[in-house]
Amino acid sequence: MRMVDLIEKKRDGKELSTEEINFIVQGYTDGEIPDYQVSAFAMATFFKDMTDRERADLTMAMVNSGETIDLSAIEGVKVDKHSTGGVGDTTTLVLAPLVAALDIPVAKMSGRGLGHTGGTVDKLEAVEGFHVEITKDEFIKLVNENKIAVIGQSGNLTPADKKLYALRDVTATVNSIPLIASSIMSKKIAAGADAIVLDVKTGAGAFMKTPEAAKELAHAMVSIGNNVGRKTMAVISDMSQPLGLAIGNSLEIQEAIDTLKGEGPKDLEELCYALGSQMVYLAGKADSLEDAKAKLQEVIQNGKALEKFKQFLASQGGDASVIDHPERLPQAQYRIELPAKQDGVVAELVADEIGTAAMLLGAGRATKESEIDLAVGLMLNKKVGDAVKAGDSLVTIHANRENVEDVMEKLYDSIRIADHADAPTLVYGTVT
Ligand code: URA
Ligand code: CA
Repeated sequence: MRMVDLIEKKRDGKELSTEEINFIVQGYTDGEIPDYQVSAFAMATFFKDMTDRERADLTMAMVNSGETIDLSAIEGVKVDKHSTGGVGDTTTLVLAPLVAALDIPVAKMSGRGLGHTGGTVDKLEAVEGFHVEITKDEFIKLVNENKIAVIGQSGNLTPADKKLYALRDVTATVNSIPLIASSIMSKKIAAGADAIVLDVKTGAGAFMKTPEAAKELAHAMVSIGNNVGRKTMAVISDMSQPLGLAIGNSLEIQEAIDTLKGEGPKDLEELCYALGSQMVYLAGKADSLEDAKAKLQEVIQNGKALEKFKQFLASQGGDASVIDHPERLPQAQYRIELPAKQDGVVAELVADEIGTAAMLLGAGRATKESEIDLAVGLMLNKKVGDAVKAGDSLVTIHANRENVEDVMEKLYDSIRIADHADAPTLVYGTVT
């Protein structure tokens, strides 16, 4: 087989066989096929797309390019949840203990954040002592005992995706549905999930700028999952503005605690119920999504979900007393208000730009090597659709430096106040 013939075939819009896709992925992983040929192939795929069968084959070829995690020693259906990336997206911190409180095993592999989106591991490390550097055996033991554990990302999963994603990044081929869908699904499958719930974001802070595009991506991922034997469902949700009110590591832990008590921001709570219901349903613990939601509400009301969060933090070395004493979480030195310059209604809070403002404070990483400050971040005092008066605080900036002119300027650029505006739709639909 020659790579040039396969590039030509895809360029002409023809369907590649399973063997041909395996040849490309293996050859690229082993370094036998050069970057320039795979670049041409990615561009041909960008323009000519792939059939459902090709997408499933590409996904499995990437899964098989490296190590896979075997979670068969854990009893029950392992359901994983994945978000396509957001700003202030606290859902994983809430969902993991929430679902585990219903005896559904949560065996999560999580990473650190880069750019304007935060990573779950960074957020959890705001809890003193908490660590994800545990062995695979410990991980499995903890999930069997407590139904919940988080382990740091292994270096050897889906090496083909790592190489291909980096190449796409510099060849203008990231934004391709078959390539994004196979990239995301390959990582979830390699991490051992039996079933997968996807939160596909749409809006300014997301890859997919419109709900229609997000729906298309969701359908692509759900088909791949189902075609390779993993039950998969998706929720399409808004990321035009940040989710909830908190953006920042310590602040989001506090927000997760509030939400697990039933006192969280309404949008975060609603999305947690939408995603959580799918997780419970796929785990076989409810007969319908409505039944699943009722079960989730019950463990919030009776305190079991919060208790599970405590147990989880303590079992991985964390100081679980922060749940009753959130003031023990890292606190920033300064709290600075951002006053509205005019009366009106908040019409836009551009998610990715607000994420960048939080990054300027040190809450996120500009490069992989950056150190982050767990205490700093932003608390939104208004969301889209809320009325404001000149002088009202739009955002409280939690900073460890006194001068935050740059952050304030970035925030003013990303917040628009108009005469009228409605709160955006949060959940655009589900794909099952
Ligand atoms: N996230 C991924 O992991 N892969 C993509 O291709 C896009 C987003
Ligand atoms: Ca949040």
